[in-house]
Amino acid sequence: MPDERRNRERRAQARRKADRKVTTGSKLDLILDVTRRLMSITDLDALLRDMAQATTTLLDADRATIFIVDRDKNELWSRVALGTGVGEIRLAMGVGIAGTVAATGETINIPDAYADPRFNPEPDKRSGYRTRSLLTFPMTGQNGRVIGVFQVVNKKGGEHFTTDDEETLSSLGASAAVAVENAQLLAGQKRLWETLIETLAVTIDARDQQTAGHSQRVTRYAEVIGRAMGLAGIELEKLRAAALLHDYGKIAVRDEFLTKPGKLDEAEFAYMKAHAEKTGEFLAHLEFPHDMREVPIMAAQHHERMDGKGYPRGLPAERIVLGARIVAVADVFDALTAPRYYKPAYTLEKTLEIMETMAGDHLDPAVIGALRKNIHDLEWTLESLKHTWPKPGALGVGRVPEGPGLSQRDEEPKV
Ligand SMILES: [Fe+2]
Ligand SMILES: [Fe+2]
Repeated sequence: MPDERRNRERRAQARRKADRKVTTGSKLDLILDVTRRLMSITDLDALLRDMAQATTTLLDADRATIFIVDRDKNELWSRVALGTGVGEIRLAMGVGIAGTVAATGETINIPDAYADPRFNPEPDKRSGYRTRSLLTFPMTGQNGRVIGVFQVVNKKGGEHFTTDDEETLSSLGASAAVAVENAQLLAGQKRLWETLIETLAVTIDARDQQTAGHSQRVTRYAEVIGRAMGLAGIELEKLRAAALLHDYGKIAVRDEFLTKPGKLDEAEFAYMKAHAEKTGEFLAHLEFPHDMREVPIMAAQHHERMDGKGYPRGLPAERIVLGARIVAVADVFDALTAPRYYKPAYTLEKTLEIMETMAGDHLDPAVIGALRKNIHDLEWTLESLKHTWPKPGALGVGRVPEGPGLSQRDEEPKV
């Protein structure tokens, strides 16, 4: 009998061992899978959400929060909180459990949160949730500094987190830190890029007071129209960059022509028209990211016309890219709705009336259709941008009337 019992125990032990092997094996697979996935995600928020989800599953936890350290403010904030229903949590470094982990770089595993004096019960009070067990782990960056903190809450089945769980988190944490640092680096580069082209646009608008804020407004209008036409993601980014930079070539136009009141003579107008070509030339010097290579073309085509009578190339409609057609419409929309030295700010009704007559020969009718359909969004955007209009009395504003409608600077005269 004792032999039989021993055999039974041995069989049970072998079964448990096999079970554990399967669990450990699949856990490793899961960690590898998560790591691979993390490395391919470059959007920080998407990455953190994925990480929080994976950690919750791996550790059999109820919910997870990921805090990111803000070195400038010396605090950390909950960038992703799965299933908490609580708003953003901000903590000073060294305060609370997550703050302590961020300051010391050490893992804290607490079986009963309410028995620990560092635990802050406020978020529980606000959400009605009951925190029991907590495992809080630091994400350490390449220079050894803590860049974020993982926190998993309530091990399922009323248990608490084990040293096994701590090991799992640490194997995930190392690669997660690399992925987070990469994403932060990319976000920083993107921000640098965006502010660089915004600065270029501000520079060009500052040269001519009567078109102050023009590039910024054209960009906002182009975005509204682009979205309405189904553009999203990188397509919208390209459109934004092209709109911001469309008049950049004006940097090469001498002040006397740029701000000359009244009509330009033929030679002066030909000189002024060169700005579109120059935009393309100058932007060709910028090393655009691969998926944004079309931006200089898009920007340089903003005075091309559907009937092939535009400038600088006189391209036929089929060679004018959609982004350029949208920028062209947004450009005219701003020229009409904002005050210029030769005209007051036109009402939306009058603007639409004039633009309808331009659909077909000059502007793309499909883009004009999107403009008409989304006129309320554009009106709202216009209202929010009125403070960027040229101020009455600014150099050149309200000087010499040139006649009704658009200036020749905004529209190639019909021949
Ligand atoms: Fe232009
Ligand atoms: Fe323009």
